[in-house]
Amino acid sequence: MREVVEYRTVDDVAVTTAKVLYKHHFCALPIFWAKLSSVKTVVTRFATEAAAFIKRGGVVAFPTETVYGLGANVFDEQAIRKIFEAKERPSDNPLIAHISIESQIHELAAEVPRAAKKLIERFFPGPITIVLRKVESVPLLATAGLQTIGIRMPAPQLARDFLSACAVAVVAPSANISGRPSPTTWQAVQEDLDGRIDCILQGEATQIGLESTVVDCTSETPVLLRMGAISMETLGEVLTDIRVADTSTVDSPRSPGLKHKHYSPRADVVLMRRGQEMHSAGAYGFIGLSEPGTPVAISKVCHSVDEYAASLFEFFRECDRLNVKTIVCEAVEEKGIGAALMDRIRRAAAAD
Ligand code: TXA
Ligand code: MG
Repeated sequence: MREVVEYRTVDDVAVTTAKVLYKHHFCALPIFWAKLSSVKTVVTRFATEAAAFIKRGGVVAFPTETVYGLGANVFDEQAIRKIFEAKERPSDNPLIAHISIESQIHELAAEVPRAAKKLIERFFPGPITIVLRKVESVPLLATAGLQTIGIRMPAPQLARDFLSACAVAVVAPSANISGRPSPTTWQAVQEDLDGRIDCILQGEATQIGLESTVVDCTSETPVLLRMGAISMETLGEVLTDIRVADTSTVDSPRSPGLKHKHYSPRADVVLMRRGQEMHSAGAYGFIGLSEPGTPVAISKVCHSVDEYAASLFEFFRECDRLNVKTIVCEAVEEKGIGAALMDRIRRAAAAD
């Protein structure tokens, strides 16, 4: 008689496969092999179905206004380990905890300083992450050994439905293989993580397209660790004092993630001044606000800086699918989301 097994999470499949192979005398190798074997990744539009995987210790990709995240229960170390494995993420890169209601902050943070309170009042829910001192019960695995935790409350309804159905804070990095451009569509998540994660909550393409603004509120003067849609100018409306992290020196231990290779397509990325002529035509990709002026393999001319930001990572991925060798990105003015956009382009260019 055939045994019917209901697989609940990636690990259930790994363990079951290992047991079957072990029974048939294929010795210890199966455990290692089974960990690498693929699992069916469920794609669903239903927040409650996706949340059920989190409750069972699984990992789920879900949409936010910035990029898709890959989530697990913040208090479940085994589940958090699966995030690092699926993404091939270095273990010294901390995760952001996503919440659906403000009261969850107190399950994660030991204290909420005045500056943080102001940011929360003004920008939650929204594309901002606030770094606070963590409580003991938040595992160091989630924070990469730091005594602080990044907290964020996404705004879109589907994200909020998912997070409230989870009934626990969900740690989630972007749902890409580490070093690849962050996913802005569920299909991009599938491209990187199909067979590695339990579920994808299928939503629309993300509205902003660049990761959240990260502000460290653990010291007297708040520090901007990562630029995002909430710009330095906008933060300045709420905070009297804020400084930008100097990642090359004193601030590098504050945000270890920034030192890792990021946002990079396989193609080389080149930054071009606004309105500059492209001299050679051919196997180039071009993205910017102006026409490329010369024939290229693929181009995306955006009508606004917002559209440019929302399109950048998917354009990088499309260029890789077409095997484009060089992507030319037109520079924009570094104000508003333009500063975050230029930051991501520079990082992608530097990664080559
Ligand atoms: O928009 C976003 O923030 C997306 C969505 C899914 O929420 N998430 C995201 O996560 O971009 P990730 O893991 O790709 O980037 C998180 C970065 C880390 O690399 C680090 O630079 C910073 O946020 N970070 C997280 N926790 C931190 C902490 N405790 N202290 C300092 N920086 C932290
Ligand atoms: Mg990321």
